[in-house]
Parts: sequence; C-alpha cells; structure tokens
Amino acid sequence: MDLSRRHFMETGIGLGMVGSLGACVSAAAPASAVSSKPDWHLGYKNAPSNGFDPSPMRLAYGKAPADLNGSFYRNGPAQMQYGDQYASHWFDGDGLIHRIAIEDGRAVHRARFVDTKKRREEQAAGAFLAPGFGTLGDESFSVEGPDDVNAANTSVLVVNGELLALWEAGSAFAMNADTLDTKGPKSWRQDLKGMPFLAHPKVEPDGRVWNLAVGGSRVGIYRIAASGQLEDFGMVDIGRAAYIHDWTMTERHLIILVQPWINENLRPPVVAGFEWQPQHGLQMLIVDKDDFTAQHWAQAPARMFFHTGSAWEDSDGTIKFDAVLYKEPILGVGGGSLEIRGEWTKPDPSENGLLTQVVIPTRGDARLIETEIVGEFPQVDPRFRGQKRRLTALTSRAATGRPGTTAVTVHDWETGRSDTFDFGETRMVEEFLFVPKSVGSTDSESWLIGTVLNLKAGASEVCVFDAARVSDGPVCIWQADYSWPLGFHGTWA
Ligand SMILES: [Fe+2]
Repeated sequence: MDLSRRHFMETGIGLGMVGSLGACVSAAAPASAVSSKPDWHLGYKNAPSNGFDPSPMRLAYGKAPADLNGSFYRNGPAQMQYGDQYASHWFDGDGLIHRIAIEDGRAVHRARFVDTKKRREEQAAGAFLAPGFGTLGDESFSVEGPDDVNAANTSVLVVNGELLALWEAGSAFAMNADTLDTKGPKSWRQDLKGMPFLAHPKVEPDGRVWNLAVGGSRVGIYRIAASGQLEDFGMVDIGRAAYIHDWTMTERHLIILVQPWINENLRPPVVAGFEWQPQHGLQMLIVDKDDFTAQHWAQAPARMFFHTGSAWEDSDGTIKFDAVLYKEPILGVGGGSLEIRGEWTKPDPSENGLLTQVVIPTRGDARLIETEIVGEFPQVDPRFRGQKRRLTALTSRAATGRPGTTAVTVHDWETGRSDTFDFGETRMVEEFLFVPKSVGSTDSESWLIGTVLNLKAGASEVCVFDAARVSDGPVCIWQADYSWPLGFHGTWA
C-alpha cells in the first residue's frame, strides 16, 4: 500500500470535489448533512427512476491508457426502497445496467433500468410486490413463470454484439448495447423459453459461451457459439437442490460445485428455505464438454461459496481452480437487509471468505489451499479462461467501519505473492475486470478496470490499474458528478 499516493488521491480528488459537489447534488446523491444514514449508505440508495442520461465523467486522476477503448458494462440492484419500505434482500432490487463508454481517454456514463414486469408493476404501485430471494411478495402480483419475478440485476454478457442483462432464476434480458433500452427476455430456442440462465456464464477465449440453468437438483447446460447460436443444450442431475450461483470450467470439463446449502422447496422468500448440511461436504460434478453423460464426482470439505475464478487442467489431469470460500453460509442469509436500511454490525472475522485454490487430483479427495486474502469477486484474464494462468484479481480487505472491502489485490498462484492497493475506508471497492493490453501475451500485461464509490466526494468512480503493478495505485480515475448504487458484476466489450 502506498500511503502517500492514497493520501494524494484523497486530498487531490476528495477535497477538490467538495465545492462542485456542494453546488451539484443529484437526486441519487442527497447531501449527507440532511441524511441520518451513515455515508456508506449512499451505496444502497435508489437510482433515479429513469436511470442516468449520457454524462461525461471527469478525468480526476492520472492519465488514461491510450489503448483502453471500449464499453464497460455493469449491472446491480438499484431500487432498494419505496417510501419507508426497504427491499429485504440485496438480490431483490431491480437491475440497473450501466455503460461506461471509453474512447480516446474520455469516459461517458449512462444507465437504464431493465424494463421487467416486476419493475413496471412495482413502479406503478410504488411498492415491492413480486416474491423474490428475500421477499415474500404481495398476493396481488400474478406469477405465471420465473420471468414474472425476474429482477435482471446480477450481471451482463455480450454475445456477438448483443447485450444481455443476467439474473439466475429466469431468462436473460436482451438490451440495446448502445441506448440500454430493453428488448425483452432472450429465448435461445423455442422449447427453452423461460428456462433459467445463470448470471455467471463462462466464455472461452474463442468466444464460445457455456452456461447453466438451475432448477432444484436438475441442471441444464447451454453451449452457445460465438455467433450467438445455441449449439447444444443438455441436462444433468446433481442429486440435491444446492444453491448454485457460479461454477467453473477447464478446456475439457465443466465443474458444477454442489455446496451443502440446500433448498428443497424454493418457495418465496427463497432464502428462508435454505439449510446448511455440512455432512455432505463440497461436492463437485465434473462433466465432459463433449459428452454430458461422461461425468465423475470429486469431494472437498464443506464450504459455501458465491464465486469462482477459473479452472485449468495440468498435463496429468489434475484440475485446479480458484474460488472465494466461506466456512458457513453467512453472507447469503442476511442478504444485506441491514445495510439496505443503513444499519450494520461488524461481522465476526471467521465469517470472511478466503481466496482458495481447489486442487482435484485424478484420484482421491480434493484439497483446499487457502490464502490469507479476504475478498470477493475473483476475476481472471479472459484470454486464459479454462487454461493455465497465473493471476486472480479480487476486491480485498474487509472494511473495519462499514460493509464491503477497501482494496484491490492481484494474487500470483505461481509465486504465491499478492500485490494490493488499499483505497482506505473512504472508498467502497467493487469488482475489477482484466482488459488485455493491445500488446503483450501474459495475464500481467492487462489493465484492471472497476468501479469504486468515493464516500468523501459522494461520487462514483471508474478506476484503472496496471495488473502488473497494482500497489503503485490507479493509473487513472474518472469521476462522475453523482453517485450510483453499488452493483454486482460487469463485462468489457
Ligand atoms: Fe455473482
């Protein structure tokens, strides 16, 4: 950590923005002086109902890389409150899709809510109505299928130029990649209409997309060509209705992690039906990509997880992948309901997730190699998904006085060393993505791009790091004139 650099960023950007922010308070970022909520609650405030029109962001620090040109998309729940009614789970807020268009060193932000049935009816009523992950729902809200309650709030995927807003229990929603207008639920094939499409698809380096459809103990597998055409869809049975938010794959195999967090009834509020059954351990179903009936199981000690990095296979067939693993399902149960209201109690450190490498030998049980890195949102270079690579980037270091993390870490699996930049307590750090540089062929020859919420300035920021030198601090920071709510995941196109 470079304290002098951080100090410079705090004073140079934070204090520098006080004057302009004082004069320009947006609907999404009310002045903290009139709010009884802690400053970090800014991350849970509603976005304006029509989103954000295109607005240039100010280059507030450093110099933008000349070869960083493209669209940085993000998704996250951005309607957490109607009057004095708060969403009871972070997973139940309506998805707001952001596009930060970066060209010639300039960044322009825009955002639109996904136009779902849930959002339309709740906006009209001014109340939460749809049943959800943490919400019982109102009797007046008719539900004929998963997409009637689809919050479209978790991630984004671009396939052959088509932007998709992802959830996990219903369809992806197709969006206009420029204007972010909603087209509607995506159907991959007539008979798969309404079939769930997880929010963590895996994209091979050549553009082929794999994803899962999870419904109880039955799991569907999508194989989608880079052109966007569905190539194959098959079903496998994982034996029990485990919570599956993410999974991983090598070049040859899909690895479906069956964690012992089980929900046999799936009635709303869904989260209330989960049971922790550690006696099962963390089981992994390994499926051949060329033949979904060719399967075998691996076994590891009981762990709960949300996110994996990526997997590869050594020449002897040993599978290795990284994930953030928890000893128990602490995070999912609370679902941020306290934070959404602006309340927070410091969790026990034993509840932290640790970056861990899972090693699955060709025979015998899997081993867990834990690092000491507390974090979330692990990411790898898209050029090496499914292949051997060195680096994992993640948000790290639990904040001490508020929810969330304060730092970005890149961990090198080959050397065992990690490189961290800590923003301190005044910035809430979100997922960072690898963007390969225009020259170079290793994963350290990448930019890392992500968003942070600057609590001092009351503004959202897009930060870029050099993946090879994270502890040097950001290469550049663009700052918006306003803040937007914290989100989940993004993609670079
Ligand atoms: Fe996720």
